[in-house]
Amino acid sequence: MKFELPCKTSQEILQIDAREVEAMLQGPALNIPKFPEAMLTLKDGRTLYIREAKMEEVPAMLGYMEKLMKVEHDFYDIVGSRVYSEILGWKRKRLKDPYTLVGLIDGVWSGFANGRLMSEDINISLHTMALVRGGRIGAAMYYAKAYYGFEIIGNKEWWATYESYNGWMRWGLGMAQPSYPWPDVQHELGGAKVYYVTKKYWDSTVKNYVRQMVGADLNFNVTDEVRKANENFIVPEEVLV
Ligand SMILES: CC(C)(COP(=O)(O)OP(=O)(O)OC[C@H]1O[C@@H](n2cnc3c(N)ncnc32)[C@H](O)[C@@H]1OP(=O)(O)O)[C@@H](O)C(=O)NCCC(=O)NCCS
Repeated sequence: MKFELPCKTSQEILQIDAREVEAMLQGPALNIPKFPEAMLTLKDGRTLYIREAKMEEVPAMLGYMEKLMKVEHDFYDIVGSRVYSEILGWKRKRLKDPYTLVGLIDGVWSGFANGRLMSEDINISLHTMALVRGGRIGAAMYYAKAYYGFEIIGNKEWWATYESYNGWMRWGLGMAQPSYPWPDVQHELGGAKVYYVTKKYWDSTVKNYVRQMVGADLNFNVTDEVRKANENFIVPEEVLV
């Protein structure tokens, strides 16, 4: 769009450095503490190792999500597509204050959980995926990111929503999460209901979730043995869900 100039101007064409535009588009990042690595013993005795994803792992993660977005059961397609865009959004800096956690079993990528901070107080849960079924890996990954929000970052509220029956069953029902009036309050994932956990409810009740669901707590004292077993990030050749 162009308007006539209401004043004489010495430079009719202004040059803008794209880096200045980038600062406008991104905005300043919050100073978020890192998720420390953690491990958890699954019901079948396997150890799930949870850590932050690394930027250099993004191409491999995107490649695998391309496969998952074609899986037409249990809503893996819609969740896979959205997760693809969120991983890319992290890389291209088009998500505000994102965090991305991966769960590995003997190095094999088995779980995913991510979210972002709307503010210092409100943590938006984006997605959780079990990349290997039947081990309650998804349950543990979601708990780990909520733990990160409440116990490490210091958030006051957790906002989630559910695209799948398994997701709703695991956490909407599983954590007995209340929801805000709808459609007045909508989650950024498609305008669905916002289910929420407050810090007070987390402290009184939800903190016990993973012990009940998986039978063990997150252990932040990761052993050298577990670290060594997970030193390589192995993306499965085939879809395992
Ligand atoms: C939601 C999700 C993360 C939950 O993961 P999870 O806690 O590891 O649990 P699973 O989905 O693997 O299994 C759910 C139940 O079905 C059973 N199950 C389902 N598919 C199975 C399979 N292929 N093999 C074995 N068990 C299976 C599990 O044993 C489990 O039963 P349980 O409650 O007795 O443990 C996972 O279902 C998922 O990634 N779904 C697709 C993406 C999605 O919907 N994400 C959440 C968006 S809201």
